[in-house]
Amino acid sequence: MNLRGDPQSQILAGSSQSFVWARAAETRTMKAVVYVSSKATPVLANFAVKDDVPKPQPADTQLLVKVEAAAINPVDLLIGQLGIFMASPLPFAAGCDFCGTVEAVGAGDAAQQFAVGDRVFGYTGLGKAGFGTFAEYAVVEASVALKCNAATAMSSAQLASVGVGMLTAALGLFHALGLPMQCKAPGTSVLIWGASGSVGSWATQLARAAGYSVIAVCSARNFDYVKQLGAQHVVDYGAPDAVAQIRALGSSSQPIRYAFSTISSASCDLCVECLAGTADAKLSSCQGAPTKTVEPAVPCESVFLGSVPNPGPNMSFVEQVRDTLCEWFDEGKLIPGRVRELHGLDSVMEGLQMVSAGMSGEKVVVVF
Ligand SMILES: NC(=O)c1ccc[n+]([C@@H]2O[C@H](COP(=O)([O-])OP(=O)(O)OC[C@H]3O[C@@H](n4cnc5c(N)ncnc54)[C@H](OP(=O)(O)O)[C@@H]3O)[C@@H](O)[C@H]2O)c1
Repeated sequence: MNLRGDPQSQILAGSSQSFVWARAAETRTMKAVVYVSSKATPVLANFAVKDDVPKPQPADTQLLVKVEAAAINPVDLLIGQLGIFMASPLPFAAGCDFCGTVEAVGAGDAAQQFAVGDRVFGYTGLGKAGFGTFAEYAVVEASVALKCNAATAMSSAQLASVGVGMLTAALGLFHALGLPMQCKAPGTSVLIWGASGSVGSWATQLARAAGYSVIAVCSARNFDYVKQLGAQHVVDYGAPDAVAQIRALGSSSQPIRYAFSTISSASCDLCVECLAGTADAKLSSCQGAPTKTVEPAVPCESVFLGSVPNPGPNMSFVEQVRDTLCEWFDEGKLIPGRVRELHGLDSVMEGLQMVSAGMSGEKVVVVF
């Protein structure tokens, strides 16, 4: 671990031994919102605010980040609700989306690309002690941490809202559907079901940035929002003829071949109806799988960001596309979505309650 610039190492250099030990003990714990149980009801009973959570230490491949803001995702609730993805013994800090400042860097090559004081953002991982971002400090694998020049003009809350949504959307479009990150056939359209949600709004922006034409499905109150993000066509999922409207946007020479569903098995089925009859059509989904079968079959590829940062195809994909995504921010092709800001670590509980009740076109972010 590189401690250059670390305030604690400066204290080590210039202080008496007894003061050093007192200071070290003081910084060994931190405040965090932790999982204390699973499957309790109401779902918030699985969380508690604690002051004595062990402060994580970065491994060679990791960065230690002082967290400035953390977004709340549906998966944070699901982990507690279903007791899934709990890889460490309870209690451990919850949360996986963050923006913060690098406090220490590991000795490995990927970590050494960063310096103490760098502003970073992104997604850390699910269910492991030390990775939880509803905490004063968290570790992140350096090879998936995001850093870009455009970040200087963005707030901590905006940056914290990026990680899970954008990386899941990138997996859905450029990995699961296999769409090139630069569109090779002008006019190719992508149907995005749930375009006003966090994943869907990033999918809309990413597809547009890559040169695709976006057909966005959301409620009418969010039409203007998704158009601002780059959608060419908007369709209200509440309309009884939504599928017919979408199919009419394709043509015999250029039918809709690609769809990304971000809501449920029911939305996967509706996507299948939209793609039915098109040769080589493909669907990806980050929530649920289709139950409907058509001829010719529409294959559906599931997306699971939660396998990152464990080694595997999803981790390799995120490592490969990270620099391009950061360049798209710097080129102004990507902008942060709408956020609802709360303040103070204690208000994570309020934020979890808001996400549990359902959000529309906004990401809940807690600024510490
Ligand atoms: N597999 C993975 O790796 C992965 C990663 C991230 C998220 N997810 C999952 O993906 C889902 C979406 O996550 P998120 O963070 O994007 O959620 P979110 O931002 O909370 O989604 C809220 C949005 O869902 C939209 N919506 C609700 N019902 C809809 C319907 N029937 N059709 C179209 N849109 C509908 C709402 O749109 P309107 O307000 O316009 O009605 C709202 O804007 C969640 O279930 C989450 O757990 C999976």
